[in-house]
Amino acid sequence: MKNYLKEYFKLLRFAKAYRGILALAGLCMGISTLFEGATLGMIVPLSDRILTNKQIVIPGKLPPFLSIIVDKLNAVEPLVFLKFIIIFVPVLFLLKGIFTFLQDYLMNLVGQGVVQDVRNNLYGKFQDLSMEFYGRKRTGELMARVTNDVGIITNAISYALKDLIFESMKVAFFAFVTFYIGFKISWQLPLVAFVIFPCIMFPVIKIGKKIKKFSLEIQKKVADLNSLMAETIQGAQIVKAFCREDYERERFKEINRHYYKFTLKSAKRMLILSPFTEFVGVLGAVTILWIVGNEVISGRLSFGIIGAFLAFLMSMIRPFKKLSNVYAINQQALTASARIYDILEEEPQVKEREGASEIKDLNQEITFKDVEFKYGDDDEFTLGKINLEAKKGEVIALVGHSGAGKSTLVGLIPRFYDPQKGSICIDGVNIKKFKIKELRSLVAVVSQDIVLFNSTIRDNIAYGKEKAQEAEIIEAAKKAHAYEFIMNIPEKFDAVVGDRGFRLSGGEKQRIAIARAILKNSPILILDEATSHLDSVSEKLIKEALYILMKGKTSFIIAHRLSTVQQADKVVVFDKGKIVEVGTHQTLLRADSLYKKLYDLQFSI
Ligand SMILES: Nc1ncnc2c1ncn2[C@@H]1O[C@H](COP(=O)(O)OP(=O)(O)OP(=O)(O)O)[C@@H](O)[C@H]1O
Ligand SMILES: [Mg+2]
Repeated sequence: MKNYLKEYFKLLRFAKAYRGILALAGLCMGISTLFEGATLGMIVPLSDRILTNKQIVIPGKLPPFLSIIVDKLNAVEPLVFLKFIIIFVPVLFLLKGIFTFLQDYLMNLVGQGVVQDVRNNLYGKFQDLSMEFYGRKRTGELMARVTNDVGIITNAISYALKDLIFESMKVAFFAFVTFYIGFKISWQLPLVAFVIFPCIMFPVIKIGKKIKKFSLEIQKKVADLNSLMAETIQGAQIVKAFCREDYERERFKEINRHYYKFTLKSAKRMLILSPFTEFVGVLGAVTILWIVGNEVISGRLSFGIIGAFLAFLMSMIRPFKKLSNVYAINQQALTASARIYDILEEEPQVKEREGASEIKDLNQEITFKDVEFKYGDDDEFTLGKINLEAKKGEVIALVGHSGAGKSTLVGLIPRFYDPQKGSICIDGVNIKKFKIKELRSLVAVVSQDIVLFNSTIRDNIAYGKEKAQEAEIIEAAKKAHAYEFIMNIPEKFDAVVGDRGFRLSGGEKQRIAIARAILKNSPILILDEATSHLDSVSEKLIKEALYILMKGKTSFIIAHRLSTVQQADKVVVFDKGKIVEVGTHQTLLRADSLYKKLYDLQFSI
């Protein structure tokens, strides 16, 4: 229970910014509870004084203020009463309606505000988190957090929290009145209530726990569904190429079936709660009716009082039913909230130090000193004891078998990941000491997997430079040899490239990515297989453009086609995460080297 409350308060923290509105909503709830009580109380004069034209009789001694009221009511003419009630009752209902609307609206205001905030916070957090996080999580799972889980939380805040406050107020107020009248009538009445209450609450809590368990499963399945969809939509072509449509259909069906199963199980338990509480409530009510019925028949109690008593008692059933749902909804929301907090409390692996220093340019060199790196909790290091120096203006070529760790190494320079051991320094200062944004602005990357955003070609080229001039964009496109094909598209620079740049060929995408890097014009350049998708003619043209671009810049180029790396100042040969050879194209080719083997292999084909 203590844990439950702790988790629940943590959930409510999402609505912290809306305390003022919540308080106002609470006030409206209090007022509408009072109005509802007043409308129920009208039963007493209505049935005793008007419908039966008798006196109001309450057994036992009343406090002075109540007996004065009862005496006054008994003295008023029934006809006067009738006129009064005809005006007063609609006014009461109208006021109750206004306050009910207000409280509902205010709670929705809070709920929708929370959705907006939590979505923004989550998305903002995604932007802050490091590559390491994206390596661990699936896209679909993250999407489920922003869509599904946030929705569940809103439900808990807009509706369940409202019910919790409003219905509890009603229960408290009505219970007070019922008990008060109940004690006056007979000591047995409150006793009956004491027996009923635990009978209702025990199963409610028990079932609530079960629902929490199912909701965990359901949310897992939603994440699975999302992931599978994201994968197969992105990989639609692969699915078709390998004729795996039926397999994918079955895989989806299987997860969907599990989702269905758990949702039904959860729904069954949630739905059973209401009829159950109602039934137990009715059992209590008939017992009470038996007790008070005898009192009325014997004339010790007027009909109006018993009417009001029963009305207050019955009015508690609905709030109780709603409260039992609150528990179930909250159980679902708590799991959703825990998953959202998991992300919000996630620390980015790559962090900026406090008081990080500025870096505006690379003046001398980049050095790797005894750098060791592994992804996640792998046992083996992906990179081992890397020592490397790149002087300003040098072109460093990284070559080696696939999976040797070339992309991993260059990814350490803009701190996509931090190495576990050793240090990387720019001009003698560890890059961890710099402001991350400034460090990254020094590096332009053309990565191995090219990502174009769903936007125009112009926006895609200008992605790395805010407020780029049109002329600069055109110049970058020309340098990357992209201008010609862009001009052949009817919409030219305004052409929207679809999801993941679907409408462009691999080589075209690559040229856009190169133009993007050219426009960014950073002192450090990383080209990871930047010409791999190009035919030999385009490659030759772009290679020349790239070498012009690389002038005065410190560049790291990774290329499987060794013809690209021949002009590099330094060729670094990788094998299984280690540097095995360093030299120039000429010196390495002369020796009995891995480089020569790679070279021979390529040119003998
Ligand atoms: N995000 C990641 N999480 C875990 N392991 C990874 C990740 N990226 C790469 N690896 C692993 O690290 C090793 C080195 O990968 P890397 O991408 O650096 O190789 P590479 O030399 O660039 O290969 P290629 O020439 O094929 O691009 C590989 O064994 C790969 O499986
Ligand atoms: Mg690579």
